[in-house]
Amino acid sequence: MKVAIASDHGGYQHKEAIKNHLDELGIEYKDFGTDSPDSVDYPDYARPVSEAVTSGEYDRGILICGTGIGMSIAANKVKGVRCALVHDVFTAQVTRQHNDSNVLAMGQRVIGEGLALLIVETWLKGEFEGGRHQARIDKITALEDAYGRH
Ligand code: RB5
Repeated sequence: MKVAIASDHGGYQHKEAIKNHLDELGIEYKDFGTDSPDSVDYPDYARPVSEAVTSGEYDRGILICGTGIGMSIAANKVKGVRCALVHDVFTAQVTRQHNDSNVLAMGQRVIGEGLALLIVETWLKGEFEGGRHQARIDKITALEDAYGRH
């Protein structure tokens, strides 16, 4: 399991905490920035993480901004990304089981560090159930292909 992780200034502290937690879990990761709490633009960080995942170089992506919303919108523009905006443990689990989400977005201004770490751990361990859910993902891919032409 290789994880690509990034944040803007609004998610910088949680990103650093998540990196420490990944170290504790023995999970390999690459930090795509940002490197300080100075103001930056979240799409500049959503893009490299998303592309690192869709290229197959990394298995999963984690993105943190103030709300998680900007990061999730930007990530979901990249073909092949299924980014889930998650702020509770239930949806962290179910989005893996049902959506096979490959990128996780969270908001540092929405949830505390402890919950963010639990969500990360739950999401990374969660397994896709396939079956009827695969058929639905195939429909998302078809939608992406249809609009990708324009
Ligand atoms: C930055 O102030 C903030 O807009 C950003 O972190 C994020 O919340 C955007 O969705």
